[in-house]
Amino acid sequence: MAIPHDVKNLSLAKTGVKRIEWARRFMPVVRSIEDRFAREKPLKGVRIGACLHVTTETANLMLALKAGGADVRLCASNPLSTQDDVAAALVKEYGIPTFSVRGEDRKRYYSHIRAALAHLPHITMDDGADLVSELHKEKDSRPVLGGTEETTTGVIRLRSMAEKGILKFPVISVNDADTKHLFDNRYGTGQSTLDGVIRATNTLIAGQVLVVCGYGWCGRGLAERGRGLGANVMVVEVDPIRALQAVMDGFRVEPIAKAAVVGNLFITVTGDINVIRREHFARMKDGVILANSGHFNVEIDIPTLKKMSKAVRLLRDNVEEYILKNGKRIVLLAEGRLVNLAAAEGHPAMVMDMSFANQSLAAEYLVKHGRTLKRQVYPVPKVIDEAIARLKLKTMGVSIDRLTAEQEHYLSSWEMGT
Ligand code: NAI
Repeated sequence: MAIPHDVKNLSLAKTGVKRIEWARRFMPVVRSIEDRFAREKPLKGVRIGACLHVTTETANLMLALKAGGADVRLCASNPLSTQDDVAAALVKEYGIPTFSVRGEDRKRYYSHIRAALAHLPHITMDDGADLVSELHKEKDSRPVLGGTEETTTGVIRLRSMAEKGILKFPVISVNDADTKHLFDNRYGTGQSTLDGVIRATNTLIAGQVLVVCGYGWCGRGLAERGRGLGANVMVVEVDPIRALQAVMDGFRVEPIAKAAVVGNLFITVTGDINVIRREHFARMKDGVILANSGHFNVEIDIPTLKKMSKAVRLLRDNVEEYILKNGKRIVLLAEGRLVNLAAAEGHPAMVMDMSFANQSLAAEYLVKHGRTLKRQVYPVPKVIDEAIARLKLKTMGVSIDRLTAEQEHYLSSWEMGT
């Protein structure tokens, strides 16, 4: 049977398979879920529409869902994050309908989302909430059991929909699981963002003034890893508690207006809009490098940067130089899109193992309990979160203690003092 698809080139499939298998080695938790899914088929007959970065790790998630009996369709959650060989392999070698081409324009991007929706999914699986928001623009109301959401920005959008009473079905916030954001956002984004910057530019991080905008889960991972590579890290924040954490973690905290003057390398990871804008471009040093690792390409005001420039030239893959009217040069990486996915390979499989274990088990949970949930955003149940942590520790060969009966009693009582 022909597999519906729109990918760059099916002849890339063989390379894709090798890379998917390489990632698989580092995803023992997802593998163990896949083994159980293959035996128990908890997703039998369930149509899943997934809008995720089409990477080697996502391919392994798709295989786990398929093993569980799901009928999966995949489209990209970002126009620049698709790994074309992986998309080809998913179609040709694994029979999973996939719609994604690296570098696709806006029209094709949304046509791919519509292709995923045309499958009438029972479960939506999003990274950034584009699939759910497109679905909500449709007039017909269809019976969706529920959705899952992978990232901070998507959760913010979905909470806003729930608060306004327009969310049509329950969504589980995978991002809020401890086994997701404490590891994926912090260590995954932290490492892979610098990986993206280094692959794009081959710059030396040591000795640079690295300005990290946003000290959330991603930002703190990035700041820490930047420091590890020898950068002089400066943090920009708007939240007083996060700023205080950055100060006590030993970072210099400055407003962006001040950081703009001294930074060499700026990375935004806030989930916010126009964090770096006209007045900051105007104050920057010649030759500075800007990159973004937040979900959307709106954190750096690129339209204004374009207006301020007399010329733009591509210097290397993912490296564009804007020459301002006064002759100053500002370098922008990966068109301001997630630099870790556009210029590198995204998060390492070892950390996506936990994020995608959450996705798999959240889908199973929705099949079992979706009908009893309200049209709200729900956390991943604690038992699932802890089970994933235990499984991950086991696969890493790490054992931990258990509370004795006496300790359990002590920790749940108040009578005993000094
Ligand atoms: P978070 O909510 O933990 O942190 C965001 C931080 O940015 C907050 O501390 C907030 O106060 C700060 N912020 C907001 N506006 C700001 C401004 N104008 N200036 C300075 N700081 C500002 O979010 P998290 O989990 O760190 O995610 C950040 C972004 O990264 C989101 O868009 C998320 O979806 C995305 N993300 C990207 C990944 C990737 O692979 N590149 C992976 C995971 C998340």
